[in-house]
Amino acid sequence: MSHAADHEGTRRDFLYYATAGVGVVTTGAAVWPLVNQMNPSADVQALSSIRVDISGVEQGTQLTVKWLGKPVFIRRRTEEEIEAARAVDLSELVDKSAENRNDMSLDASDENRTLDEAGEWLVMIGVCTHLGCVPIGNAGDYALEDGIGGWFCPCHGSHYDTSGRIRKGPAPENLWVPVSAFVDDSTIKLG
Ligand code: FES
Repeated sequence: MSHAADHEGTRRDFLYYATAGVGVVTTGAAVWPLVNQMNPSADVQALSSIRVDISGVEQGTQLTVKWLGKPVFIRRRTEEEIEAARAVDLSELVDKSAENRNDMSLDASDENRTLDEAGEWLVMIGVCTHLGCVPIGNAGDYALEDGIGGWFCPCHGSHYDTSGRIRKGPAPENLWVPVSAFVDDSTIKLG
């Protein structure tokens, strides 16, 4: 498959929602450099916090929203995805940090990356930590046997597990967990 075809596939795989006031989500560049993550322009800063309705998200699927110019994956995991993520020993991980912008002192245990204690909700910046492509969900070597879970970045072959942690390939860091929290049972706030 050509590189261009890979990106087509990536775009097709994502369902973009534009939340009120956030504006239209485009299918523009497939590369989203992390380098500007902390330096949003003034108009973007105005949207530095958004609320997302998650009431329609089924287990085993994810919602992708655009926030601060980046795709954010909001995944509702199955029991199997949670079990697989929590069975991994820290010593097996490339990046030992949870990469959780809520608390950067946390280690990469799955429990430190999910929004709820049970681990059903996983919120991550959908940008590969190698060179900034958007990984494909339910794909890669760490997808479960039924094809559910995990992410794969086809740009240079980075495989992320069901917790979004880098397990194989050139990416140096786990997918970042943004500042996020539940507002109520059906609403997540980013920022
Ligand atoms: S950008 Fe993801 S593997 Fe290179």
